[in-house]
Parts: sequence; structure tokens; C-alpha cells
Amino acid sequence: MKIEASHLTDKRKPSDLLVVALFEGTKPPPKSLKDIDPVVYETLSRLIQKKRFEGKSCENVPSYGTSSYKSANDVLFIGLGKKEAFNLPKLRRLVGNLLCQAKGQKAKSIAIIADQFVSSKLNINQVSELIPETFLLADYRFDKYLQKKKDQPKIDVDDITIIYEQKKNLKAVEEGLKRAQIIAESVNFTRNLINEPANVISPKVFAQKASDAARKAGLKVKVLEEAEIKRLNMAGVIAVAQGSALPPRFVIIEYGASHKNKGTVCLVGKGVCFDSGGISIKPSKDMEKMKYDMSGAATVTGTLLALAKLKPAVHVVAFAPLVENMPSGTASRPGDIITYKNGKSVEIINTDAEGRLILADALIYACEHYKPKAVIDLATLTGAVAVALADKCAGVMGNDQKLIDQLIKTGDVVGERLWQLPMWEDYNEIIKGHHSDLLNAGSGYGGTITAAKFLEAFVDCKSWAHLDIAGTAWVDSAKPFNFRGATGYGVRLLCEFLRK
Ligand code: BES
Ligand code: MN
Ligand code: ZN
Repeated sequence: MKIEASHLTDKRKPSDLLVVALFEGTKPPPKSLKDIDPVVYETLSRLIQKKRFEGKSCENVPSYGTSSYKSANDVLFIGLGKKEAFNLPKLRRLVGNLLCQAKGQKAKSIAIIADQFVSSKLNINQVSELIPETFLLADYRFDKYLQKKKDQPKIDVDDITIIYEQKKNLKAVEEGLKRAQIIAESVNFTRNLINEPANVISPKVFAQKASDAARKAGLKVKVLEEAEIKRLNMAGVIAVAQGSALPPRFVIIEYGASHKNKGTVCLVGKGVCFDSGGISIKPSKDMEKMKYDMSGAATVTGTLLALAKLKPAVHVVAFAPLVENMPSGTASRPGDIITYKNGKSVEIINTDAEGRLILADALIYACEHYKPKAVIDLATLTGAVAVALADKCAGVMGNDQKLIDQLIKTGDVVGERLWQLPMWEDYNEIIKGHHSDLLNAGSGYGGTITAAKFLEAFVDCKSWAHLDIAGTAWVDSAKPFNFRGATGYGVRLLCEFLRK
């Protein structure tokens, strides 16, 4: 998909479809539309006059040009509803739907006017980034294993022009477009890693793919193999990996070492390439989805790839402990006790609570080696978070309210929302052990919180946030801007957070 920016007076090839948007009650239409296409302007004026189009939300009036328009074959008039109420999530949904609509009309090229979406809640910078970003995210498919791709609903819009009205906005529009391309590419890289099945993405292959991409982007990479992991006494990674025929890996990717003086942000991502549950085996239903249990690791990797190109002035280090959780004669048993490098012992009550076991090692390692200013971990950690919040937002918990507030605010801005759950001291009781310091699983109630409480015991940093993305990393039914499967949730959130 090719996307380019064009000033309204630039000479352009006519597009198959021109998108003209209007806030409710705008009349007459904006004069600038005359410069783009006088016939379109007239048509819109007439529609408004006859009250056939009022700009109401979800109002959609196609107008088939039959060669009378100079700018496009067809025009689609879209109502945006009340100007005060138009916001970023609405624009995202609109652009996502637009791609389906264009395909329905067999349009191969679309022109869309950026300035029409600017409101008190959306400035030209946001609009210029969001439109191309959403097109690129909506265009994503994971169809490499399908024999006949053309029968699939592949959207073949391949040419998009973003028209801007004011010359002074050229820079905003071009920068937005560039950022959108970088971010969408990273999100789609993340989605690909997640959607690939576990027989393709083993811990070793994940490490290879991540380090190849990271090195290519100019990032510093280190991959710890099994012997080194054992030497470092990463007790959780060893305990989970020992049931699998596939050896573990531990990937470290670094960006922006020259900005160290401002402090380091560590990102930790859960990388369970397949979670069968281990000896505490999961039910068969939906088990195939447990290939997405490495979404946290894929997300921090994708984020670092984006940072390499966005080049914000921050030092960021990502950590991905990678394992496969399988039942076997060598697997960890319920009741096994392991001891971490920070001296804490853990009784493995349930081998299916494996994510926290490997994250503990990564948190210890990150805090010890990098003395970070902030640590953020992302993990498909509990089914309970999806029970509580569905796929509408991730759960956030931590030890620093300021960091949590910043993340929540950023989530609202990019449309990757977060909801905070409590971390009161009382919850520690649930995971307090008798034969060990901690239990890796509690009673079943408050599962998302007790998982976070477990992680807290391994964080040696005053500013830490944990994002439980089990509900948001995957969608079972497609959305306008999301093919069924991996969402890549978190990449846009982290990029925007780190940019600020
Ligand atoms: N990977 C799962 C969590 C999960 C469940 C992610 C469903 C996505 C969809 C995690 O390792 C797990 O099994 N958690 C258990 C914890 C329990 C045993 C304490 C859970 O949520 O049931
Ligand atoms: Mn599990
Ligand atoms: Zn898991």
C-alpha cells in the first residue's frame, strides 16, 4: 500500500474514491473543497440544501461520478457527527471501515482530506499520523499459509493520497506519514511473530528473528543461550523450560545508550512460545491460541524496532525470556520449590502459572544490571484479566502511581487503553507460602492482582508498571483495523509513552 501526501492545489491523478467528511450542521461546505473539485463542492452544497446529507454520525452518502468529477471517479460523503464529540477512536474506526467500503466499491485508490477531521480534540498532527497508520494496520493480513490467497478478503486498495488544505501543514502531514509508516511496520512485525504457530516460532527462532531484525535496525542485541541461563541461575526460566524439548533463550535489545544520562527504561515481555499449562495441563478447547503467549516479548521487540527509527532521546532496554511450557517426564511438578537469585523461594503450585516464573528472572536481571529509572513489563499473564475487562483494555498495576497515570493517559491518546487494579498489601496473603516464601498461584480469586503481586516481589525499582495484556493481545473476531488474531497491542502505547 502506497501512501503519499499532496497539497490541495497539487496536480494529481484522479483517485477511484474521494472521501469528503463533514461535521454535523456545517453549511455551506468548506470553500477549500472548491479548489479540490468544484463539482464535488456543488454536489455537496445541493445535498446539504435538500437535507439529504447533514453530516450526522454514521451518515454515508456515496456519489457515483460518471466522469463529472475531475478529482475522482466516485465520492463518498461521510458524516462525522458533532464536532465537539469527534475524537481519535472515532477517526480510527471510520478509517478502518473506509477500507472495507472502498473495497466494496472496487476502488483501488483513495484520496482523503486530512483537515476535515481536525477538531478541538484532534489536531492536524494527530490526524496526519492516525489516518495512514490506521490504513496500514487495517490492511494487514496473516495469509501466508493459505493456498489460495485471492479468495480471501484481501483488501487491494494500493494507493492512498492524503490531501491537506493549508501549505503550513505540509511538515505535520509528512512527519505524521513517516511516523505512521514506522509504527505500523513495527506493529505488523509484532503481529507476524505472534500469529506464527509454535512449530515455527520456537524460543530459538524467536531469538533469531528478533535479533536479526534488531541488528538490521542498528540496535545492540545479546542472546543468552541455555548454558548461560543456567550459569546465571535463572531459576524460573529453567523450571519452565525443563519440560520442553526446546531450549530457552533470553534476548536483550538496547536502544539509545548515548541517552543513558537521562536514565534507563527497561521493558520486559513474557515470551512463552507455547503454553500447554505443563503438568497442570490446560483443557483442549482454545489451547491452540496459546501460541500468542509470547505477545509481551513480541511487543517489546516491535517497540525497540520502532524506536530505532523514531529516534527519541531515551535509553531503552528490552528483555524477553523465551520458553515453551510443556508436560513431560522432565517437566516441573506441582509442589516443586525453586530459589531465585534474589534469595526468594517459590513453590510451584500450578505449572500453568509459568509466565510469572520467567518474568521474575527477567525483572531481577533488568533491575540488577541496568538500575533503571522505570520498568514496564507486558505479559499475557492471566485469563482473569479478560474475564474482568474483556478485550477493551489491558489491566495495569504497579508501585508508582505517577507512572501508571502517565501510561493510562497515553493509552487513551493512542486508543490502547488501560484500567488500573488495586495492589493493596492484603493481597500478599493469598500468595504467601508455608514451605516457601511465595506461591506461584493463589486461590483463583483476584488472579490478575495476585499475579502482579508475585512480580512485585522481584522488582527492585521504585517505578514499575505491569500490563496484563491477555485480553487485548488477540481478537477472535476481526475489527475494522484488526485482522483476526494478534493485535500488536502495546507497541503504539509504548512508542508514544517513550516519545514523551
Ligand atoms: N498464558 C496464560 C494466561 C492466558 C489465558 C492468556 C488465556 C491468554 C488467554 C497463563 O500462563 C495462565 O495459564 N494463567 C493461569 C494462572 C493460574 C493457573 C493461576 C490462568 O489465568 O488461569
Ligand atoms: Mn499458563
Ligand atoms: Zn502463559
